[in-house]
Amino acid sequence: MAWNSWNKFGCNINEQLIRETADAMVGSGLRDAGYRYLNLDDCWAESDRDAAGRLVPSAKHFPSGIKALADYVHGKGLKLGIYTSAGTRTCADTMPGALDHEKDDAQSFADWGVDYLKYDNCNNQGRPAIERYRAMGDALKATGRPIVYALCEWGENKPWEWGRDVGAQLWRTTGDISDNWSSMTGILDRQAGLEAYSGPSAWNDPDMLEVGNGGMTTDEYRAHFALWALLNAPLIAGNDLRSMDETTKKILLNADLIAVDQDWGGKQGHKVRDDGDAEVWAKPMSDGSAAVVLFNRGGTATTITSGAAEAGLGHAVDYRLRDLWSGAESETTGTIRAAVPPHGAAVYRVWPQRVPQAAPHGTLSLQ
Ligand code: DGJ
Repeated sequence: MAWNSWNKFGCNINEQLIRETADAMVGSGLRDAGYRYLNLDDCWAESDRDAAGRLVPSAKHFPSGIKALADYVHGKGLKLGIYTSAGTRTCADTMPGALDHEKDDAQSFADWGVDYLKYDNCNNQGRPAIERYRAMGDALKATGRPIVYALCEWGENKPWEWGRDVGAQLWRTTGDISDNWSSMTGILDRQAGLEAYSGPSAWNDPDMLEVGNGGMTTDEYRAHFALWALLNAPLIAGNDLRSMDETTKKILLNADLIAVDQDWGGKQGHKVRDDGDAEVWAKPMSDGSAAVVLFNRGGTATTITSGAAEAGLGHAVDYRLRDLWSGAESETTGTIRAAVPPHGAAVYRVWPQRVPQAAPHGTLSLQ
């Protein structure tokens, strides 16, 4: 779980923004809710390498350097992430990429105390993705510093099939999200079937969150967050944390949904039913419960009904149900039903209780 600068700020980043964001991660409770990585995206370095071939932090925007920033961020109980591309230049073309400079750049990141690398795919010279991403994976490993390795290959070469082998812990599955409903749902639709490839330390990344950036309604942002949690997505906030409203905070800090996302069993949820605009998504949880999202893609409110069996749960006399938005608890003999607003999602966690026991064995009488 993290924050990343790109969705809200693009290239308009500087060390003051990052320090203020670190402060806001602590002050808002995001850090304590699990958001631990503070990630710089594109545009943090000078356009050219120095005479020794090393990356140089932008003198204008990061005059204190990345090491000082990492120290500040670490002092707040957070970790620092950085970005570059597996190409000759990054996507914004404001700084060099790491292609053929993997060892030097990985060493700079380690020397500065960086904890996470997002490795983009622009200006890749048409060279094979697996080779390019393996070179950086090997270089990071060789530094001896534990650095989370996030591939940003956009799914073109199915990184879910080889991401683990090149040392990555997560990989983007698609191109970029934008702050609107059709982008978010379009990305969602491209996650089908990918659940087979994810698990602990190997996560599909459907891209960062847009929650709080203003382009979607509150119900749309809730659906976005609930579905990303169900997908075990890396929850990477991308809004301005210094001016978050209460509605946004309630979404990003929803402890029950974070628990769904972070469940130690690491089984990714998936769609179990598609009735046009009404969909049911479910995720098995490691304590034997299930998380269920009733998702309404349509423009009018609708009642969606599912059941414990559809959610993958075994038979029980009854089930405990928690509404993960309101926290309200109820009991059911198996039906899960909600009135779901347009472009919205109701979310439940369902625990089987009073599971019928097998009939006791009869006494064996020996004649
Ligand atoms: C493309 C990536 O997919 C985005 O997430 C972002 O990192 C930009 N490049 C930065 O240029």
